[in-house]
Amino acid sequence: MNTERSAGARASTRSAARPDGVRLQKVLAQAGVASRRAAEEMIAAGRVAVNGEIVREMGRRIDPQTAIVHVDGSRIQLRDDMVYLALNKPRGVLSAMSDDLGRPCVGDLVVERGLVEPEFEGRSRNRLFHVGRLDADTEGLLLLTNDGELGHRLMHPSYQVQKTYLAEVIGAPERDLGKRLREGVELDDGVVQVDKFRVVDVIGNKAAVEVVLHEGRKHIVRRLLDAVGHPVQRLVRTAIGEVKLGNQRPGKFRPLDQIEIGSLYRSVGL
Ligand code: URA
Repeated sequence: MNTERSAGARASTRSAARPDGVRLQKVLAQAGVASRRAAEEMIAAGRVAVNGEIVREMGRRIDPQTAIVHVDGSRIQLRDDMVYLALNKPRGVLSAMSDDLGRPCVGDLVVERGLVEPEFEGRSRNRLFHVGRLDADTEGLLLLTNDGELGHRLMHPSYQVQKTYLAEVIGAPERDLGKRLREGVELDDGVVQVDKFRVVDVIGNKAAVEVVLHEGRKHIVRRLLDAVGHPVQRLVRTAIGEVKLGNQRPGKFRPLDQIEIGSLYRSVGL
Protein backbone atom coordinates (compact mmCIF):
# COMPACT_ATOMS: atom_id res chain seq x y z
CA MET A 1 0.00 0.00 0.00
CA ASN A 2 1.19 3.50 -0.75
CA THR A 3 2.27 4.81 2.66
CA GLU A 4 1.70 8.41 1.65
CA ARG A 5 -1.88 7.65 0.69
CA SER A 6 -2.49 5.57 3.77
CA ALA A 7 -1.15 8.41 5.93
CA GLY A 8 -3.63 10.72 4.36
CA ALA A 9 -6.38 8.17 4.50
CA ARG A 10 -5.97 8.01 8.28
CA ALA A 11 -7.25 11.54 8.37
CA SER A 12 -10.52 10.59 6.80
CA THR A 13 -11.43 7.28 8.43
CA ARG A 14 -13.41 7.42 11.59
CA SER A 15 -13.64 4.31 13.79
CA ALA A 16 -17.18 3.41 14.63
CA ALA A 17 -16.93 4.17 18.35
CA ARG A 18 -18.84 1.55 20.29
CA PRO A 19 -20.83 3.05 23.13
CA ASP A 20 -19.33 0.55 25.56
CA GLY A 21 -15.81 1.08 24.27
CA VAL A 22 -13.18 -1.28 22.85
CA ARG A 23 -11.03 -3.70 24.84
CA LEU A 24 -7.70 -2.18 25.78
CA GLN A 25 -5.61 -5.01 24.31
CA LYS A 26 -7.49 -4.70 21.00
CA VAL A 27 -6.97 -0.94 20.95
CA LEU A 28 -3.23 -1.39 21.53
CA ALA A 29 -2.99 -4.04 18.82
CA GLN A 30 -4.92 -1.88 16.33
CA ALA A 31 -2.61 1.03 17.11
CA GLY A 32 0.33 -1.17 16.11
CA VAL A 33 1.86 -1.22 19.58
CA ALA A 34 2.03 -5.02 19.84
CA SER A 35 0.11 -8.16 18.95
CA ARG A 36 -3.03 -8.66 21.03
CA ARG A 37 -1.28 -11.37 23.04
CA ALA A 38 1.78 -9.18 23.71
CA ALA A 39 -0.52 -6.27 24.60
CA GLU A 40 -2.21 -8.49 27.21
CA GLU A 41 1.19 -9.24 28.70
CA MET A 42 2.02 -5.52 28.78
CA ILE A 43 -1.25 -4.80 30.58
CA ALA A 44 -0.67 -7.62 33.10
CA ALA A 45 2.85 -6.30 33.75
CA GLY A 46 1.46 -2.86 34.68
CA ARG A 47 3.03 -1.11 31.69
CA VAL A 48 -0.19 0.46 30.41
CA ALA A 49 -1.90 3.53 31.87
CA VAL A 50 -5.32 4.88 30.90
CA ASN A 51 -6.03 8.50 31.76
CA GLY A 52 -3.08 8.49 34.16
CA GLU A 53 -3.94 5.23 35.98
CA ILE A 54 -2.18 1.91 35.53
CA VAL A 55 -4.69 -0.67 34.30
CA ARG A 56 -3.99 -4.36 34.98
CA GLU A 57 -7.43 -5.84 34.35
CA MET A 58 -7.86 -7.49 30.96
CA GLY A 59 -11.50 -6.63 30.33
CA ARG A 60 -11.18 -2.85 30.48
CA ARG A 61 -12.96 -1.13 27.59
CA ILE A 62 -11.99 2.37 26.54
CA ASP A 63 -13.05 4.92 23.98
CA PRO A 64 -9.99 5.27 21.70
CA GLN A 65 -11.18 8.70 20.58
CA THR A 66 -11.02 10.21 24.06
CA ALA A 67 -8.83 8.01 26.33
CA ILE A 68 -5.23 9.06 26.97
CA VAL A 69 -3.12 5.88 26.93
CA HIS A 70 0.54 5.59 27.87
CA VAL A 71 2.73 2.50 27.45
CA ASP A 72 5.93 2.58 29.50
CA GLY A 73 5.32 6.28 30.03
CA SER A 74 5.05 7.08 26.30
CA ARG A 75 1.76 8.34 24.97
CA ILE A 76 0.11 6.25 22.27
CA GLN A 77 -1.99 8.12 19.74
CA LEU A 78 -5.25 6.23 19.26
CA ARG A 79 -7.36 8.77 17.45
CA ASP A 80 -7.70 7.82 13.81
CA ASP A 81 -8.37 11.38 12.73
CA MET A 82 -4.91 12.49 13.84
CA VAL A 83 -2.14 12.77 11.25
CA TYR A 84 1.61 12.87 11.95
CA LEU A 85 3.87 13.11 8.92
CA ALA A 86 7.58 13.54 8.30
CA LEU A 87 8.43 15.35 5.08
CA ASN A 88 11.85 15.67 3.49
CA LYS A 89 11.37 19.25 2.36
CA PRO A 90 13.22 19.85 -0.89
CA ARG A 91 15.40 22.88 -1.44
CA GLY A 92 13.48 25.79 -2.99
CA VAL A 93 10.15 24.92 -1.37
CA LEU A 94 8.64 27.37 1.14
CA SER A 95 7.58 26.19 4.59
CA ALA A 96 4.01 27.36 4.03
CA MET A 97 0.67 25.68 3.35
CA SER A 98 -0.10 28.19 0.59
CA ASP A 99 1.63 31.11 -1.08
CA ASP A 100 -0.11 34.17 -2.49
CA LEU A 101 2.71 34.65 -5.01
CA GLY A 102 2.37 31.09 -6.29
CA ARG A 103 5.85 30.00 -5.22
CA PRO A 104 6.30 26.25 -4.59
CA CYS A 105 5.31 25.47 -1.01
CA VAL A 106 4.79 22.51 1.31
CA GLY A 107 1.00 22.83 0.86
CA ASP A 108 1.46 21.99 -2.85
CA LEU A 109 3.28 18.77 -1.93
CA VAL A 110 0.49 17.83 0.48
CA VAL A 111 -2.04 18.15 -2.36
CA GLU A 112 0.19 16.50 -5.01
CA ARG A 113 0.81 13.45 -2.82
CA GLY A 114 -2.90 12.92 -2.30
CA LEU A 115 -2.73 13.67 1.41
CA VAL A 116 -5.85 15.78 1.19
CA GLU A 117 -8.90 13.58 1.09
CA PRO A 118 -11.77 14.95 -1.05
CA GLU A 119 -14.01 15.41 1.97
CA PHE A 120 -11.40 17.66 3.55
CA GLU A 121 -10.48 19.57 0.40
CA GLY A 122 -9.98 23.19 1.32
CA ARG A 123 -10.33 22.48 5.00
CA SER A 124 -7.67 19.95 5.87
CA ARG A 125 -5.06 21.93 4.02
CA ASN A 126 -5.62 24.43 6.78
CA ARG A 127 -6.02 21.84 9.50
CA LEU A 128 -2.76 20.10 8.66
CA PHE A 129 0.11 22.43 9.52
CA HIS A 130 3.88 22.33 9.44
CA VAL A 131 5.62 22.36 12.80
CA GLY A 132 8.00 25.29 12.57
CA ARG A 133 9.88 26.30 9.46
CA LEU A 134 12.95 25.63 7.40
CA ASP A 135 14.42 28.31 5.15
CA ALA A 136 13.45 27.87 1.51
CA ASP A 137 17.10 26.97 0.84
CA THR A 138 17.24 24.42 3.65
CA GLU A 139 16.28 20.81 3.02
CA GLY A 140 15.27 18.05 5.33
CA LEU A 141 12.94 17.03 8.09
CA LEU A 142 9.75 19.01 8.54
CA LEU A 143 6.89 17.60 10.61
CA LEU A 144 3.27 18.09 9.64
CA THR A 145 0.32 17.34 11.87
CA ASN A 146 -3.22 18.33 12.71
CA ASP A 147 -2.49 17.81 16.43
CA GLY A 148 -2.62 21.39 17.67
CA GLU A 149 -1.56 20.68 21.22
CA LEU A 150 1.55 18.73 20.25
CA GLY A 151 2.46 20.99 17.32
CA HIS A 152 2.21 24.19 19.31
CA ARG A 153 4.26 22.82 22.15
CA LEU A 154 6.95 21.62 19.74
CA MET A 155 7.16 25.16 18.34
CA HIS A 156 7.15 26.84 21.73
CA PRO A 157 10.62 28.00 22.86
CA SER A 158 10.06 26.76 26.41
CA TYR A 159 10.19 23.09 25.32
CA GLN A 160 13.46 23.40 23.41
CA VAL A 161 13.42 20.14 21.48
CA GLN A 162 16.85 19.34 20.00
CA LYS A 163 17.28 19.62 16.25
CA THR A 164 20.13 18.14 14.26
CA TYR A 165 21.52 19.71 11.09
CA LEU A 166 24.11 18.59 8.58
CA ALA A 167 25.85 21.58 7.02
CA GLU A 168 28.26 21.73 4.13
CA VAL A 169 30.54 24.66 4.86
CA ILE A 170 33.45 26.49 3.31
CA GLY A 171 36.77 26.10 5.11
CA ALA A 172 38.31 23.25 7.07
CA PRO A 173 37.18 23.52 10.72
CA GLU A 174 39.83 24.52 13.26
CA ARG A 175 40.54 22.12 16.14
CA ASP A 176 38.77 24.24 18.74
CA LEU A 177 35.64 24.99 16.68
CA GLY A 178 33.40 22.57 18.62
CA LYS A 179 34.52 24.08 21.93
CA ARG A 180 33.78 27.61 20.69
CA LEU A 181 30.32 26.63 19.48
CA ARG A 182 29.48 24.82 22.71
CA GLU A 183 30.67 27.77 24.80
CA GLY A 184 28.51 30.18 22.81
CA VAL A 185 28.86 32.63 19.94
CA GLU A 186 27.56 36.21 20.05
CA LEU A 187 25.12 37.03 17.22
CA ASP A 188 23.17 40.26 16.56
CA ASP A 189 20.21 38.99 18.57
CA GLY A 190 22.12 37.31 21.40
CA VAL A 191 24.35 34.37 22.16
CA VAL A 192 23.79 30.94 20.62
CA GLN A 193 25.24 27.74 22.02
CA VAL A 194 25.19 24.34 20.37
CA ASP A 195 24.54 21.14 22.32
CA LYS A 196 26.78 19.02 20.10
CA PHE A 197 29.14 19.52 17.20
CA ARG A 198 31.18 17.13 15.09
CA VAL A 199 33.12 17.24 11.89
CA VAL A 200 31.73 14.55 9.58
CA ASP A 201 34.12 15.01 6.66
CA VAL A 202 36.71 17.40 5.26
CA ILE A 203 37.48 17.52 1.56
CA GLY A 204 39.94 20.21 0.48
CA ASN A 205 38.60 23.58 1.57
CA LYS A 206 35.12 22.28 2.37
CA ALA A 207 33.68 20.33 5.27
CA ALA A 208 30.51 18.58 6.33
CA VAL A 209 29.67 19.29 9.97
CA GLU A 210 26.84 18.16 12.24
CA VAL A 211 25.32 20.62 14.65
CA VAL A 212 22.74 19.85 17.35
CA LEU A 213 20.94 22.73 19.02
CA HIS A 214 17.63 23.54 20.63
CA GLU A 215 17.10 26.95 19.09
CA GLY A 216 14.38 28.18 16.78
CA ARG A 217 15.69 31.62 15.80
CA LYS A 218 15.56 32.51 12.12
CA HIS A 219 18.53 31.33 9.99
CA ILE A 220 20.23 30.31 13.23
CA VAL A 221 22.56 27.63 11.86
CA ARG A 222 23.60 29.68 8.84
CA ARG A 223 24.21 32.77 10.98
CA LEU A 224 26.13 30.80 13.58
CA LEU A 225 28.47 29.07 11.14
CA ASP A 226 28.92 32.29 9.19
CA ALA A 227 29.90 34.07 12.40
CA VAL A 228 32.71 31.58 13.03
CA GLY A 229 34.02 31.92 9.48
CA HIS A 230 32.37 28.92 7.82
CA PRO A 231 29.61 30.06 5.44
CA VAL A 232 27.01 27.37 4.77
CA GLN A 233 26.61 26.11 1.24
CA ARG A 234 24.04 23.45 1.92
CA LEU A 235 21.93 22.78 5.00
CA VAL A 236 19.84 19.70 5.80
CA ARG A 237 17.85 19.08 8.98
CA THR A 238 18.36 15.42 9.79
CA ALA A 239 16.48 15.01 13.08
CA ILE A 240 13.95 16.60 15.40
CA GLY A 241 14.31 15.07 18.84
CA GLU A 242 14.32 11.31 18.26
CA VAL A 243 12.60 11.53 14.85
CA LYS A 244 15.15 10.98 12.10
CA LEU A 245 15.09 11.89 8.43
CA GLY A 246 16.90 8.66 7.50
CA ASN A 247 17.00 7.93 3.79
CA GLN A 248 13.64 9.51 2.99
CA ARG A 249 13.82 11.09 -0.46
CA PRO A 250 13.21 14.84 -1.02
CA GLY A 251 9.52 15.63 -1.49
CA LYS A 252 8.42 12.37 0.17
CA PHE A 253 6.18 12.07 3.20
CA ARG A 254 5.99 9.18 5.64
CA PRO A 255 3.68 8.65 8.60
CA LEU A 256 5.41 8.67 11.98
CA ASP A 257 5.16 5.45 13.97
CA GLN A 258 3.89 5.18 17.54
CA ILE A 259 7.42 5.22 18.98
CA GLU A 260 8.21 8.46 17.17
CA ILE A 261 4.89 10.05 18.12
CA GLY A 262 5.42 8.94 21.74
CA SER A 263 8.93 10.44 21.79
CA LEU A 264 7.58 13.80 20.55
CA TYR A 265 4.86 13.81 23.21
CA ARG A 266 7.47 12.98 25.87
CA SER A 267 9.78 15.74 24.69
CA VAL A 268 7.10 18.36 25.37
CA GLY A 269 5.80 16.88 28.61
CA LEU A 270 2.55 15.39 27.29
N1 URA B 1 18.88 27.26 10.71
C1 URA B 1 18.97 27.88 9.52
O1 URA B 1 19.88 28.68 9.30
N2 URA B 1 18.05 27.59 8.58
C2 URA B 1 17.05 26.72 8.79
O2 URA B 1 16.24 26.51 7.89
C3 URA B 1 16.97 26.10 10.02
C4 URA B 1 17.90 26.37 10.98
